[in-house]
Amino acid sequence: MSKFPVTMKLDDMRSLVSHFPDMLRSIDLDHNIIDECKGYHERGYGGLCFLGMGGSSIVGLYVSELLRRDSLLPISIIKDYTLPRFVTKDWIVIAVSYSGNTAETLSALKEADERGSKIITITSGGQIQETYSHYPQLLIRKGLQPRAAFPLLLSGILPITETIIGAEYTKMDKLAESLVAASKKWGEWIHRPDSLACKFLKRIPLFIGAEYMKPVAYRAKTQVNENAKTIAFGSEIPEAAHNEIEGFQENQQAAFIPVFLKHGDESKQIQQKQDVMQSLYEEIGMNPVSLRALGKSPIEKMLTLTHYLDMVSVELAEMRGVDALAVNRITELKKRLAKRG
Ligand code: F6R
Repeated sequence: MSKFPVTMKLDDMRSLVSHFPDMLRSIDLDHNIIDECKGYHERGYGGLCFLGMGGSSIVGLYVSELLRRDSLLPISIIKDYTLPRFVTKDWIVIAVSYSGNTAETLSALKEADERGSKIITITSGGQIQETYSHYPQLLIRKGLQPRAAFPLLLSGILPITETIIGAEYTKMDKLAESLVAASKKWGEWIHRPDSLACKFLKRIPLFIGAEYMKPVAYRAKTQVNENAKTIAFGSEIPEAAHNEIEGFQENQQAAFIPVFLKHGDESKQIQQKQDVMQSLYEEIGMNPVSLRALGKSPIEKMLTLTHYLDMVSVELAEMRGVDALAVNRITELKKRLAKRG
């Protein structure tokens, strides 16, 4: 279970985002789970598969992007009802669902159980807690919006995955300190969150990530959707250079604002693609923005930008006069689907 700072208000997205760094260090890891994962590492396994939807899927994307280079075995992300055939009993399946009741995650998890895969779950309750408590299970505190629980989920899943693949542990305390320091300097190394949000009032953001910034671009898109209740898109380089750039033609380009997310150590090929794409967009009057992450390690860079963009989405929600916390339409959709059985 996790301990939260007393100043964090669960019913206020701004407060939750402000406490992003605190959440990274508020989880008490269960040593039994870590021991189980050490066993998986020693005995071997076929691959690692993350299950999860929406806010609960983001953590798998970040972890797999971070550890993919060190992992000798495949890491797969499933955001759907069914598992591919290659996920067998030799695979480790990590199911992430904040509520523990998400239909797609439950369905894929059931399949993994039927196949005899090695299951680990992380949840705050629901059916996953009830049905899968005989497997290693990390229980996290109830009462948050799943997307706001991202740092909490990450601080639980990262050490689990690092143990499984035999990678060095990330020092969460240090990381949290760096995020606090970086957030105190918003407005210096990066635009103030409100001034970037202002640009998104009239134009639809298109977040473009490359290499390990790809999940950051996707997270930014989903945070703008869910917190600010407006349309945003996420895309990636090099793929966008082969299709998306053709999409902005007369009258369309004025609706969008490309936001390039950079970590600063991009390969030469990626840097060149970013530069050329940026100039092509400038030439057609799209006024692209370029954001460069702060930090030394990939995880620090991913999270300084994620924390910042989370706050941009909260600023945008306030400017648009919407409640950043509520997700009425997602809730309504889940209700209607539940009624259909
Ligand atoms: C709500 C949110 C959603 C949920 C998604 C899956 O804050 O972020 O995207 O994460 O509907 O639900 P959970 O996370 O409970 O499995």
